[in-house]
Amino acid sequence: MVQAMAAAGESLVVLDDLSSGDAGRLEQLPGVPLVVGTVRDRALVDRVLGEHAVQGVVHVAGKKAVAESVADPLRYFAENVEGLVSLLESCRSAGVGRIVFSSSAAVYGAPDTDPVTEDVPCRPLSPYGQTKLVSEWVLRDCATAHGLAATSLRYFNVAGAVQPRLGDTGAANLVPMVFAALDAGRAPVVFGDDHATPDGTGVRDYVHVSDVAAAHLAAARALTAGSPGGTYNVGTGTGCSVRDVLRVVAEVTGADTTPEVAGRRPGDPASVVAAVGRIERELGFRARFDLHDMVSSAWTAWRLLQPR
Ligand code: WQD
Repeated sequence: MVQAMAAAGESLVVLDDLSSGDAGRLEQLPGVPLVVGTVRDRALVDRVLGEHAVQGVVHVAGKKAVAESVADPLRYFAENVEGLVSLLESCRSAGVGRIVFSSSAAVYGAPDTDPVTEDVPCRPLSPYGQTKLVSEWVLRDCATAHGLAATSLRYFNVAGAVQPRLGDTGAANLVPMVFAALDAGRAPVVFGDDHATPDGTGVRDYVHVSDVAAAHLAAARALTAGSPGGTYNVGTGTGCSVRDVLRVVAEVTGADTTPEVAGRRPGDPASVVAAVGRIERELGFRARFDLHDMVSSAWTAWRLLQPR
């Protein structure tokens, strides 16, 4: 995200508590100062906004693991909701009137429409999804009360790597979980092959992290140009099943990805695919990369970053 915005000529300062980040990833961006700290530190955020004459904020600092949020909801509401509220209090004090917020398709829960438009009723199934929906409400109310220009971007299933050294080092989602199984000499696991989908496995809208970064840049520039903001799905509009992903992983890695079929995961919707008309019409954004691009970039990063 930072790299894409810096490359586009945006002047940036990064605030990161490094709880999951890596300061080394900013080394290649000498003109981008890093301040280590949390958005929940009101005095620190006040200082950063003032010292760097911040005009707008892109807020991607939040916790995003669904299972972890179920086990520790208070931590998720503290980090994701209290963190946003504290950030917005600082923005209001500093006169910063523009924000792009990292939301998620998790706000939809298990939608019964396909594809999912932004107007579908939101019924999140996890504390993580709930924190994202509540955060959107906070932004909407600040827009009404204080004229905040706010855009919420609802990421669908993010995959891939902008560069190998910037790859995802966790294994909390399908693609890295398949890689981890292959590295361990195990068969990948399919959570249910009896879903109401063409091949019975879960269908998702996988979107390249490079496209997600580009969507943030488009959203930030629209706010700078005077847009009041809005809520947008960030996806490709194309659904891919778990078996589609396993097929592409086999093509990219040459490995045998014949899976072990387990039961469905509780709460797993059969299909969640983005309707992408609004972001195309209003922000001029369209995803450029396909599943093969995501899997091949993720695999290159995985081999570089995983301890051997
Ligand atoms: C994808 C599909 C699984 C692993 C979550 C969050 C969402 C977003 C993305 C942040 C499902 C299946 C998975 C495996 C499998 N995160 N699967 N075997 O659950 O769609 O979404 O992450 O914004 O908000 O809710 O992602 O990658 O866990 O699963 O069969 O080993 O792959 O059942 O159909 P999910 P996922």
